[in-house]
Amino acid sequence: MSDPIRILMCAPDYYDVDYVINPWMEGNIHKSSKERAIIQWQGLYQILKDRSTVELVTPQKGSPDMVFTANAGLVLGNVAVISRFFHKERQGEEPHFKKWFEEQGFSVYELPKDLPFEGAGDALFDREGRWLWAGYGFRSELDSHPYLAKWLDIEVLSLRLINERFYHLDTCFCPLSGGYLLYYPGAFDAYSNRLIEMRIAQEKRIIVEEPDAVNFACNAVNIDKTIVMNKISKTLTQQLNNVGFEVIETPLSEFLKAGGAAKCLTLRFTEPILEDVHANTLIETRVIQMQGHLLDAGVLSKALDLVVESGGSFKVLNFSLGIERQSSSAAEVRVSAPSTESMNEIMSQLLELGAFPSFQEANDAKIEEVNKPGVAPDDFYVSTIYPTEVRIGSQWIPVSKQRMDGVIVIDSNDNTSCKLLRDLQIGDKVVIGVTGIRTIKQSDSRDQRSNNQEFSFMGAGVSSERRVELVVEQIAWELRQIRDQGGKIVVTAGPVVIHTGGGQHLSSLIRDGYVHALLGGNAIAVHDIEQSIMGTSLGVDLLRGIPVRGGHRHHLKIINLIRRHGSIAAAVEEGLITKGVMYECVKNNIPFSLSGSIRDDGPLPDTEMDLIKAQEDYAKLIEGADMILMLSSMLHSIGVGNMTPAGVKMVCVDINPAVVTKLSDRGSVESVGVVTDVGLFLSLLVKQLEKLISPYASSVN
Ligand code: ARG
Repeated sequence: MSDPIRILMCAPDYYDVDYVINPWMEGNIHKSSKERAIIQWQGLYQILKDRSTVELVTPQKGSPDMVFTANAGLVLGNVAVISRFFHKERQGEEPHFKKWFEEQGFSVYELPKDLPFEGAGDALFDREGRWLWAGYGFRSELDSHPYLAKWLDIEVLSLRLINERFYHLDTCFCPLSGGYLLYYPGAFDAYSNRLIEMRIAQEKRIIVEEPDAVNFACNAVNIDKTIVMNKISKTLTQQLNNVGFEVIETPLSEFLKAGGAAKCLTLRFTEPILEDVHANTLIETRVIQMQGHLLDAGVLSKALDLVVESGGSFKVLNFSLGIERQSSSAAEVRVSAPSTESMNEIMSQLLELGAFPSFQEANDAKIEEVNKPGVAPDDFYVSTIYPTEVRIGSQWIPVSKQRMDGVIVIDSNDNTSCKLLRDLQIGDKVVIGVTGIRTIKQSDSRDQRSNNQEFSFMGAGVSSERRVELVVEQIAWELRQIRDQGGKIVVTAGPVVIHTGGGQHLSSLIRDGYVHALLGGNAIAVHDIEQSIMGTSLGVDLLRGIPVRGGHRHHLKIINLIRRHGSIAAAVEEGLITKGVMYECVKNNIPFSLSGSIRDDGPLPDTEMDLIKAQEDYAKLIEGADMILMLSSMLHSIGVGNMTPAGVKMVCVDINPAVVTKLSDRGSVESVGVVTDVGLFLSLLVKQLEKLISPYASSVN
């Protein structure tokens, strides 16, 4: 047998629930029974005394939680790292524990003052001594982990806690001898669960279900083949017995009221050291900078939130606040993440918010060559809608053909552009990772946003029904501006435009020069032509709102008719089509592209069934657009949204708020969503445009 196991405990002389610093304490202030607490504590103490050497630290008045010695610090060999409590309520315990460790002759290490770490409550050694599992998210800071790795000379695996009830790692995670692990997966984020699964073989993972978890079954003391805990179900006991563990239950209900149980009440300070195990931490840190209207545009809080939500942590190193309403602020932030993978994930999101690497850390972009046509290197950087620059030879070079979901390629003259995966050729140099990339994102100040003549309501995102008229007024004004200044307006439209009676209004927009390209599918064209020729849309008489007998055949008759003529344009020229959206396009020389889909009947001769070709046609027609009006077509609108760089105004009209939200959520001032019936929207828009013209009209009369 190796040296006896030594455990530190603290008698519950002053134990009580005096404050609330975790959800278990809520409603339990002064609700625990002193006598019962003493009996329960004694029960645990006896069990452990029979199996190890238990030492005691003197309880302190005013430190009711000091019974939870797991939070005293973390010990390995001769080194003790003292806790830095997150809550001031427990900070008073620190000097007492420190004193105890010093008296015992440990080399005591202290973390920086503002770096919380709650000892063995949040750090558990693999029982084979292979590594240290360290929790973060509630009480301990991720940035404390590199210190642990260094001082204890051990590999640290960081696990992120996401469930408030399991705020310390030892409430939901218990490494057992023989390489087993007892844990509650629901307490961890997906990345941490994956890490656990990578390190612990499936047959060694003992999953705890919620009912056992809330009884603190994971908060167990494991000594060799014995596990001591508050309470456990029969099934879980059986599972543990099956792999050779003996389970001892000892009631600790009084301590549950403070959010602790068996393991929390103990600190094991003899931990095995493996000779060949050494420091290693997967944690990565980067320093980024942000500039602009960080506070009033909410960019900084968004950035910090996303760091935490993606499993990282941060420290604001410098912050200079713009004093004037117009002046901008600058921040320097250190970001830490539990692995390279999650750092890349965080960085690419931060880049989208306009963050850039700090001066000291600025490096050229990393590049890898394509070795299979149409396939990028695994780690390729995925482009966004925002203007992007890539650092090559210490110079920031702007990327051309900016679009979403592309790959950034650098040519032999160091020119960079966005390409689609399928267009990649062997030897193309592709930007990988997130180093040496920055995006330029305009964050308007509050003043700029509210003074914005054009789309001032847009910050509000999706407008509700009662605001529709107001929105329409603004859009009409904007359309007029663009048209009169020779700008370009592109419309994507779904068949609903015709069903809701919007066809005539869209036709008049085209006639009056408000549309410079039309994008849609087979259906809008078929319904429009059916409407023009037969007065029905999918067999429904729109004027009377009722289905016409045999009307369901109209649809295919129309397709057949156009196929006979060879094209929509031919059918117009030959006098078959005399009005409607497609008619106006042909007559006014407005280019259109109809993209096919799996559900298309016919299709019309004009419908492009080669989707790659259709995407190319769309991209060409979108080029140079100042505004895109998206009218009730989820598929075509989202497709178009992905191809369009930031800066192009987008108006998305749909009765389904989900579609509108998806498109207006480009995080930019320039997109607006209108949740309404598209027919109604178009009729209001046309009326509004007429009103804009009328002053001149009346002066002529
Ligand atoms: N009331 C204590 C706290 O919230 C309970 C600590 C439990 N300790 C533990 N290692 N989980 O800090």
